[in-house]
Amino acid sequence: MNIEKVGIIGAGVMGAGIAEIIAKSGYDVVLKDMEEGYIQSGIKNIEKNLKKSVEKGKLTEDEKKEIRSRITGTVDNQLLTECQLVIEAASEKMAVKKIIFEELDRICPSETILASNTSSLSITEIANSTKRPEKVIGMHFFNPVPVMKLVEVIRGINTSDDTRNTVVAMAENLDKVSVEVEEAPGFLVNRVLVTMINEAVGVLADGVATAEDIDTAMKLGANHPIGPLALADLIGNDVCLHIMEVMYEEYADSKYRPHPLLRKMVRGNLLGRKVGQGFFSYE
Ligand code: CAA
Repeated sequence: MNIEKVGIIGAGVMGAGIAEIIAKSGYDVVLKDMEEGYIQSGIKNIEKNLKKSVEKGKLTEDEKKEIRSRITGTVDNQLLTECQLVIEAASEKMAVKKIIFEELDRICPSETILASNTSSLSITEIANSTKRPEKVIGMHFFNPVPVMKLVEVIRGINTSDDTRNTVVAMAENLDKVSVEVEEAPGFLVNRVLVTMINEAVGVLADGVATAEDIDTAMKLGANHPIGPLALADLIGNDVCLHIMEVMYEEYADSKYRPHPLLRKMVRGNLLGRKVGQGFFSYE
């Protein structure tokens, strides 16, 4: 299928990042959110990144303008009907995703592929809210989207080969590397990565080392670009907790039990960078 216009649902960190790289790769983008304010904030982040790229000599001023002009922000569903691919990057709640996919299924042409950027929820279950489960797929990007090279392509039980092939080709066009993953709780990266983060929280809670030393140790001892606790702050401690909860519930294996300190942090609104405070302070 020939993809020219891509819809993105959700102008948060992930949605805006996805919109940016898709526009950079020459596609038209419809960035949809529920409120004008969310769209403005997402577009402001994109503009900031594009400006930095110009300053670094990675883009010309004209290229920046052209990329920006490819992105249309909207609170209306109408423009999504023109898209051949829609990628949902809204809140990580199954009920919310089902409402979004039901609506997309109703308004988008039957050939439109509906993808979700969910970090751990079942693609098969999301697809159940549509009449086109063969055209529903997971396209999981990583934060920060402009930097991270991977896209996990997750097939639900009913996803067709055609849909998979189109999305794999699309990821390549976005200059990403895709890895195909069968649907499973936490998929691939988060099952390994967030379980490690949860363990680092346990190491902190046990008083084995300070937060700073845990991160220094993992950076210098395991060559990670940032430590697990700083990474939790980057991802969002609420998102990490949610991923652990999904894996714990689905696998019923105690190795995925969210650490009580992680729960406590989320209850205390210490969510990480987005609120200025997590395991570290960002004020
Ligand atoms: N948007 C765009 N570009 C960004 C960026 C952002 N938010 N943050 C950093 N960058 C760019 C910088 O502009 C810089 O680009 P240049 O090389 O062109 O100058 C480059 O990334 C390196 O940035 P910095 O020098 O500022 O800082 P750094 O070297 O510490 O790198 C980092 C920052 C790329 C975030 C690095 O710390 C890193 O790779 N961290 C690990 C990130 C990670 O593991 N992400 C996955 C999280 S899991 C997930 O997302 C899935 C999920 O479902 C939860």
